[in-house]
Amino acid sequence: MLNGQKVVLRAVVRNDLERLCQFNNDLAVELASGGDAPMPQSLERLQAEFDDKVRQGGRDGAEFAIEADGELIGQCALFAFDHVARCCELGITIGDKSYWGRGYGRDTLRTLLDYAFHLLNLRRVFLAVNGNNDRAIRAYRSCGFVEEGRLRAHVWNNGAYVDLVYMGILREEWKRSRT
Ligand SMILES: CC(C)(COP(=O)(O)OP(=O)(O)OC[C@H]1O[C@@H](n2cnc3c(N)ncnc32)[C@H](O)[C@@H]1OP(=O)(O)O)[C@@H](O)C(=O)NCCC(=O)NCCS
Repeated sequence: MLNGQKVVLRAVVRNDLERLCQFNNDLAVELASGGDAPMPQSLERLQAEFDDKVRQGGRDGAEFAIEADGELIGQCALFAFDHVARCCELGITIGDKSYWGRGYGRDTLRTLLDYAFHLLNLRRVFLAVNGNNDRAIRAYRSCGFVEEGRLRAHVWNNGAYVDLVYMGILREEWKRSRT
């Protein structure tokens, strides 16, 4: 649906679930992704959740599979929309570790930001990232995100307390980052 320079962002389909389940059970991916503490996930549960959503019909929401070289490499989404303030939160996980640090994250982020600002007419996109996730923070900065706030020692991550860093990008900053 959305074409970046290296990635295609498209709907998640049932055939993706096996691969996504592998990503969700990869401890390194889970620890980097932040959010809830790592827990195992069965394919059956993932399928049941997917099937429930399909039964509801309608549109998928701003949730995308990330495809590169014809393969599924991860997932990204815009969520928690505030339609009055015209802002939302962004999440991204490249689950295939062989694609880390090769520009696929930045390309995905730029594609998703173009979607957020140009097609959805949003005004601000923000995210939360663990303060020890240097790779993610660098990728976000490269795409124009700036640090907006920091909850100190807020997250227990892999045996240590780390800061939770809030980063955001405003519409005018997105415009500047594209020139
Ligand atoms: C975070 C993530 C989306 C970034 O995507 P990516 O394709 O790996 O990153 P990119 O190659 O586009 O950019 C990475 C940046 O970090 C730098 N980098 C690469 N490897 C690094 C490392 N091991 N440590 C620190 N920085 C690193 C790169 O030089 C680049 O910085 P630059 O733009 O200033 O040159 C991806 O690694 C990922 O999904 N990781 C697992 C889950 C996760 O962390 N999700 C984010 C949760 S908030």
